[in-house]
Formats: sequence, C-alpha cells, structure tokens
Amino acid sequence: MPDVTIKVDGREITAKTEETLLPALLAAGFDIPHMCYNEEIKPYGACRLCIVEVEAGGRRSVVSSCSYPVSDGMVVYTDTERIKKHRRMIVELLLARCPDVKEVRDLARDVGLEHEPRFAKRDKGCILCGLCTRACEQVVGVSAISFVGRGPDKEVGTPFLDRSDVCIGCGSCYYVCPVNYVEMEDEEDVRRFPQWKVEFEKVWCERLGRKVPKKMLEHFSKIAKIPEGWFEGSPAGKK
Ligand code: SF4
Ligand code: FES
Repeated sequence: MPDVTIKVDGREITAKTEETLLPALLAAGFDIPHMCYNEEIKPYGACRLCIVEVEAGGRRSVVSSCSYPVSDGMVVYTDTERIKKHRRMIVELLLARCPDVKEVRDLARDVGLEHEPRFAKRDKGCILCGLCTRACEQVVGVSAISFVGRGPDKEVGTPFLDRSDVCIGCGSCYYVCPVNYVEMEDEEDVRRFPQWKVEFEKVWCERLGRKVPKKMLEHFSKIAKIPEGWFEGSPAGKK
C-alpha cells in the first residue's frame, strides 16, 4: 500500500493508507496516551485517551486517533489546550472509577491533574477498556468473557458470572490488560483464573518450551489444523 503524507503539529510524517492515526503518530515519536489500543485487535475507542484534533474544511474536530483512518494531506494537532483539557477530564473520570490503580494514578500525574476527582469515587480495578474481551473474541476465537451488567455495574466477566466452559486458559486476558486487573495463578501443573472460576491442567509443550494448559494446546491445534492426537504422539505431548 502506498504511503500518505499528513501534517502533525506542523511536521510532515508519512503513514500507510490502511493505518489509523494512532500507530502512525506513535511510530513518528509523538507521545499520545492510550490504554485500549493493541495493534493486533480491532480498535474500539473505549478509553478516549488518544484524542487529537483533526482539521477539515476549516473546522477542527476532536477524534479518537486509534480508530480514525489516515488520509493524504490531513492536518492533525496533538497537544492543543482543547486536547489537554478534554484529556484531563477523561483521566479524572477514570481516576474516580479506579482511584487505587497505579497506571491510572501515573496517567493523572502525566496529564497534570492536580486535584482529586470531583466525581463520586468508586472502587474498581478495571477501566473497561475491553482489550481482554476483544482479544478473547478476535485473537483467540472463543469469547469466554464479555461485558456484563449495565451503567455503573458494568464489568468484565463470564456469562452469568459463572464458571466458563469455553475458556481455554491461554491467559490472553491477563497478558493484554493494561492495569493488571485480571488474575492468573500459574503453578507447575495447573493454571487458575479465580475471577473466571476456572482451572486447567498443564502439559509440556515442546514448541513453547514450557508447560501450558492442555485445553489451550487442543484449541490451537484445531485452529492450526494439526491432526488430532498430535500433542500426545509428538514431543509436544510430553509431560
Ligand atoms: S479487565 Fe483489564 S483488559 Fe479487561 S476491560 Fe478491564 S482493564 Fe480492560
Ligand atoms: S486508545 Fe484510542 S480510545 Fe483508547
């Protein structure tokens, strides 16, 4: 795909036509806060931290750069007073929801939020960025977790907050969470996810060089069309 040229804070940078703005800005060295973006997962625009101003037809609009497509000649501003003010408000709301989450407190310091949130504080550990649910659905392909509940009671969980039958124990939710909310207990022969009420027997995987949940190997062998029994009959099946 050919490159496009965009002007950011007065500087010209190039981006791939199929890209959205955020990866292009990050690659060019712009420091844009972001908490719900991962290049392997479809953007969702949940945290709104990555906002920038885009100028078109003489008007400027505030957009989430992670989901906004680049176009040739576009003009972008990343550090205006309007952006800083909006971002501080977004962080203040996040801090009210998750006052004890280190990553959110660090962010509050970085954006210059100098007072405690003016909104009612809640005691949540999850910022509802949706990275875990999207990774589970889009990358792993099992949808073991999703958002449950509404409004202030919205949270991430398994269906009916019960034990998940489809979870394979891969730990994608744990690895992708930007605020370390998802708990994973990894012992020699077992892996547990207390919040999803599941635990998995682990077996040796030669390719990964470590023990991993058996159900995860079975799932990925199906996706990769590896013949049934491969992990029992191959070095990957070693205990
Ligand atoms: S558990 Fe983590 S990854 Fe999942 S929505 Fe909450 S903050 Fe995001
Ligand atoms: S990173 Fe863009 S909305 Fe969260």
